[in-house]
Amino acid sequence: MITTNRQDYVKDLYEVLFEFCTGEGLEITHFQSQAESEFFDDITINGKSYSYKNEFTPKNTLELKRYEKRFSKLALYTSLEDYLGISLTWGALTGIRPVKMARDLGDNFERDFTSIFKVSPKKIRLVKDVLNVQKSFYDKNSEYSGLFIGIPFCPSRCLYCSFVSEIISKTKLINGYVESLIKEINALENLENVRSVYVGGGTPVCLSNEHFESVLKAVKNKVPSGVEFTVEAGRPDVITKEKLEIMAKYGVTRVCVNPQTFNDKTLELIGRKHTSSDIKSKFFLAKSYGFKINCDLIAGLTGETLNDFKYSLNEAIKLNPENVTVHTLCLKKGSVLKTETLRLEASDIDEMIDYSYSELTKNGYNPYYLYRQKYAKGNLENVGYAKKGEECVYNVDVMEETSTNYACGANAVSKRVIASENRIERYGSPKDIKTYIDKVDVIINEKKRLFE
Ligand SMILES: C[S@@+](CC[C@H](N)C(=O)[O-])C[C@H]1O[C@@H](n2cnc3c(N)ncnc32)[C@H](O)[C@@H]1O
Ligand code: SF4
Repeated sequence: MITTNRQDYVKDLYEVLFEFCTGEGLEITHFQSQAESEFFDDITINGKSYSYKNEFTPKNTLELKRYEKRFSKLALYTSLEDYLGISLTWGALTGIRPVKMARDLGDNFERDFTSIFKVSPKKIRLVKDVLNVQKSFYDKNSEYSGLFIGIPFCPSRCLYCSFVSEIISKTKLINGYVESLIKEINALENLENVRSVYVGGGTPVCLSNEHFESVLKAVKNKVPSGVEFTVEAGRPDVITKEKLEIMAKYGVTRVCVNPQTFNDKTLELIGRKHTSSDIKSKFFLAKSYGFKINCDLIAGLTGETLNDFKYSLNEAIKLNPENVTVHTLCLKKGSVLKTETLRLEASDIDEMIDYSYSELTKNGYNPYYLYRQKYAKGNLENVGYAKKGEECVYNVDVMEETSTNYACGANAVSKRVIASENRIERYGSPKDIKTYIDKVDVIINEKKRLFE
């Protein structure tokens, strides 16, 4: 329980607390005050007191707020570190984009990550690796843009997943959704600078062949030819020859075939309706069309040991895909797992994440983008690895918020990057599929205003 005089930062303080533990049994107070350029943060944890002083002269109100928040979070982090006797691998750094933050800190990144945020050397090395790979195509001038198309339907729900999606066989909204989506795509303007497209979900390939083809055709008609074009095919149980032929016909270049794990027992337990041998056969089928392939894995799946994870990672490497993305299991509201478990214990997760870094880098893959999520096991990260020159530009542009993103579909968030003013304007479409269908004309108009 946290009591603070800075109610505007209470959510941020809880974020720091939850990185350590559930907060059970901890009574925390925080009081922040300021005298000219001196900022004072007083913390008590179950009666034990800590005091901090920072000197700083803000240039404007925005900077003042940013630093007040930072000082509050750092004070709580440092106090909890002492009180609980635990250090975290990402230190006091919260938020989903550590690489973006490192870039904003410029030459001071290593110094500030180490001395202010107390980030561990291995995570600093990871950020440095990613920055190094991104150098070749990172460009913060919003000259390029990306296009996202969301298909929120799946063949069945996986136990851990909280993405907004409906089971396709149980919904009557498909026709209305595809119609609205195509209307939204057709209404987009000025897409000549799009350099990457991502059709994601959900599971886009669980649509009927006709619906799937009509969506890809609408996209193809809007974007320059030769763009990077990803379809998150996802589940091997719904990847078919017909779907792959449609993808080839409309210029898809990259396909995600996602194992999550190669252990059949776990696949059954998490509600994936496919086996590890399905993964392999669909992987080679997709490969035969010449697509680049990404494989998603999740570290820390229910019941899996370090050896189980090592097995999955080694199997993925044997397939030799262009990209491997390693996610850390996280507990999100909306997943079945969240309703059954309060907090994920870290167990072997550190070793799993370390093993994926060492094995993938040994086998010619480099980490090229990374992000963190709240409530991830052991507070660890998700990392995309790629063979040299095979990085997915879309993932980097979106994660680093380097370029404008046109997003279509329920729950899609469009972003206009205004690089000259160092700010981003956003428009989020409704999560609920029925509301999205009913509001599509309003959405089209509001997005026009965002991009005009
Ligand atoms: C938007 S999901 C869609 C993928 C596709 N439908 C599939 O199942 O293969 C993208 C990825 O997020 C990851 N993911 C989903 N829920 C997760 C969770 N709770 N913790 C960690 N990773 C998660 C999975 O690896 C998944 O492949
Ligand atoms: S992991 Fe993929 S298939 Fe499973 S519920 Fe989530 S989006 Fe759907």
